[in-house]
Amino acid sequence: MKDIKEKFKQKSEELGKEIKEILANHGEKEISSVKIRQLYQGMRGMPGLVSETSLLDPINGIRFRGFSIPELKEKLPTAEEGDEPLPEGLFYLMLIGELPSDKEVEEISNAMGRRSQIPKHVFNTIDELPIETHPMTQFVTGIMAMQTESIFAKAYKKGINKKDYWEYTFEDVTNLISRLPRLAAYIYRRKYRKGEHIEPNPELDWAGNFAHMLGFDNKEFRELMRLYLTIHADHEGGNASAHTTHLVGSTLSDPYLSFAGGMNSLAGPLHGLANQEVIRWIEQMRKEIGDGLPTKEQIENYVKQTLDAGKVVPGYGHAVLRQTDPRFTAQMNFAKEHLPDDDLVNVVWRIYDVVPDILKDLGKVKNPWPNVDAHSGALLVHYGLEEYEFYTVLFGVARSLGVLASLCWDRALGLPLERPKSLTTKRIKEIINGEEEV
Ligand SMILES: CC(C)(COP(=O)(O)OP(=O)(O)OC[C@H]1O[C@@H](n2cnc3c(N)ncnc32)[C@H](O)[C@@H]1OP(=O)(O)O)[C@@H](O)C(=O)NCCC(=O)NCCS
Repeated sequence: MKDIKEKFKQKSEELGKEIKEILANHGEKEISSVKIRQLYQGMRGMPGLVSETSLLDPINGIRFRGFSIPELKEKLPTAEEGDEPLPEGLFYLMLIGELPSDKEVEEISNAMGRRSQIPKHVFNTIDELPIETHPMTQFVTGIMAMQTESIFAKAYKKGINKKDYWEYTFEDVTNLISRLPRLAAYIYRRKYRKGEHIEPNPELDWAGNFAHMLGFDNKEFRELMRLYLTIHADHEGGNASAHTTHLVGSTLSDPYLSFAGGMNSLAGPLHGLANQEVIRWIEQMRKEIGDGLPTKEQIENYVKQTLDAGKVVPGYGHAVLRQTDPRFTAQMNFAKEHLPDDDLVNVVWRIYDVVPDILKDLGKVKNPWPNVDAHSGALLVHYGLEEYEFYTVLFGVARSLGVLASLCWDRALGLPLERPKSLTTKRIKEIINGEEEV
């Protein structure tokens, strides 16, 4: 990783200089105004932070350093056995801002293999939790237990120059990303496979090895993992898990503490937990109307029942997107190629035919189209990963790539403690009445 670290240093120094100039010459330029509704409605559309790794367009979806998901598929290095992008390559792209060569991706894969050791006390800590503990709680507990390994925290305690923060962060970030598949696989095997653990295979890439340690040793599943971990890696900086990681990191908490914070955000049903909700919701539908492919009418009735019960249709809608999520489409294309006749996948596709029109008719849903979570579970179930409570952990392993690459940038650019201003409703009323300035 030495060369990659050196390249990151060079890139971040260049950008650091540019940002100084931007601030000196344009720091007072207004780019947006804030509306009262944005204060009450989750700051939607309010620019509030900078994140270099990706940018979300409401219609075209996510672009990682300018590259769309189909472009990543075309341009990122793949494993020899397949044609899905290697997530290590995306990590490089987000970190450095350029497409990696095959050799650079191989260097990251190898380094991740070498750095994946987890101290025993982490496993012991997880083993103390009741087996029924939600996998996300086990995951966050494991990350917190691993904080003993933070190089940043140790160096900070000794005393370091703030110009060097990024170096220790970089080391923590690469170690943590390397260890996460092992931690996640440990939790999976502990909870669902009688604690029969599988040693890593040093020959495999990061995602392939994850599939192997989970216990799914076939080429198609390894390919699915490569795709899955790539498309879930980042969704610009304002989503809850990315923003939480950034916010906690802005206090100079080390990458382990920061990432654990982000994962607690991901564990919410409006964010990363939606993927398990989708499968649970479809299972319930099938219980009510039987297996096999439901008719459009049956789906319509079931959706209406969900809405009448005051619930949301999981896997549909998005805070920013206003079209079918390209991450949904990427998974649909994978399914068309590898498992076009799968029952559950066909149910997901039929739901896609029906739900958008119903949500449009409600008149209030800003985005009636499916998001990433609407499809992911059906693919996993096909290959035998049916324990849907675990799905958010997979999402979390993937999300580490984006939010931790961003954390390297936060430290390299010396971004300060985040501390926005909050107002009371009393103050807002005073502003409305012209009695107070903001
Ligand atoms: C993702 C989500 C939280 C975005 O929330 P948002 O930005 O507030 O969405 P909107 O502005 O479109 O919401 C406006 C209204 O439509 C409703 N709505 C949005 N998505 C809906 C859905 N999938 N099913 C039913 N109603 C929905 C909202 O609950 C809200 O209703 P309210 O005014 O009665 O409170 C929301 O679409 C949702 O809950 N989706 C289902 C869960 C999900 O798939 N999450 C994963 C996201 S990647």
